[in-house]
Amino acid sequence: MSDLQGKVAIVTGGAAGIGRATARLFAQAGARVVVADRAEAAAQAVVAEIEQAGGEALFQRVDVSREEDCAAMVEAAVARFGRLDIAFNNAGIPGRVARTEDQGLAHWHRIIDVNLTGVFHCMVHELRAMKAHGGAIVNTASVAGVRGAPYSSAYAASKHGVIGLTRSAAREYGRYGIRINAICPGVVKTAMADELAAASLPGSSDALLAASILRRPGEPEEAAELVLWLCSDKASFVAGANYMVDGGLTA
Ligand SMILES: NC(=O)c1ccc[n+]([C@@H]2O[C@H](COP(=O)([O-])OP(=O)(O)OC[C@H]3O[C@@H](n4cnc5c(N)ncnc54)[C@H](O)[C@@H]3O)[C@@H](O)[C@H]2O)c1
Repeated sequence: MSDLQGKVAIVTGGAAGIGRATARLFAQAGARVVVADRAEAAAQAVVAEIEQAGGEALFQRVDVSREEDCAAMVEAAVARFGRLDIAFNNAGIPGRVARTEDQGLAHWHRIIDVNLTGVFHCMVHELRAMKAHGGAIVNTASVAGVRGAPYSSAYAASKHGVIGLTRSAAREYGRYGIRINAICPGVVKTAMADELAAASLPGSSDALLAASILRRPGEPEEAAELVLWLCSDKASFVAGANYMVDGGLTA
């Protein structure tokens, strides 16, 4: 497999879950990868895994809610690997499971800061680096980006925002050869899904899975395969789109 041979990619939230699976798959496909995350030890372990498998990777510590971190992340990619072709803006946090009136303003701001403003910060700096030669960006939204998520309204609002941001930027940057798309995972087996299941109303995760077509949670690698395809030249006619990878939850 060499879909991304010679390309340079950033993966935020690359230390765990969907980001980790994607960083590894990008490297297998030939990309040099910046594993960007606030969790240093776990991200360094992903870099080591990639290097042991014969790939090239770099750890960059980033809190995506801080613009200076996102600027430094893009600078680090260009300084080490000479360019930036691909970005998977995927870092996110699940938020509190509570009625809207009990979500709390501080919690609301934190969820929006990480899940939505974080994607904005990353894109601003990635777009500047890609404008001269083109590229591909994928942002992680959620099934909660296309429908209501009861007891997770701040999270759902942040993910609806990611889709609006993705579509709008895609319409601006197509002329520069930059394709921007979003993915909407359903229930994928990661620490975040475990956290949400533990906090949810009893039986709600089971009910969610039972309502899906495939009736099982996804593996992080199954989401990563979609991201790889969207970032490769095989998806050359795909822009401003929003792909479900949810086992049919929203069908
Ligand atoms: N797992 C699911 O069921 C599911 C469903 C829909 C959407 N998503 C979305 O997928 C994305 C990845 O989630 P996951 O399930 O792999 O979760 P995860 O918790 O396994 O991984 C998330 C990673 O993001 C990092 N991170 C969190 N906040 C950060 C910040 N401010 N700056 C930098 N890094 C940060 C964490 O350290 C972690 O490594 C998220 O955006 C999430 O909202 C997940």
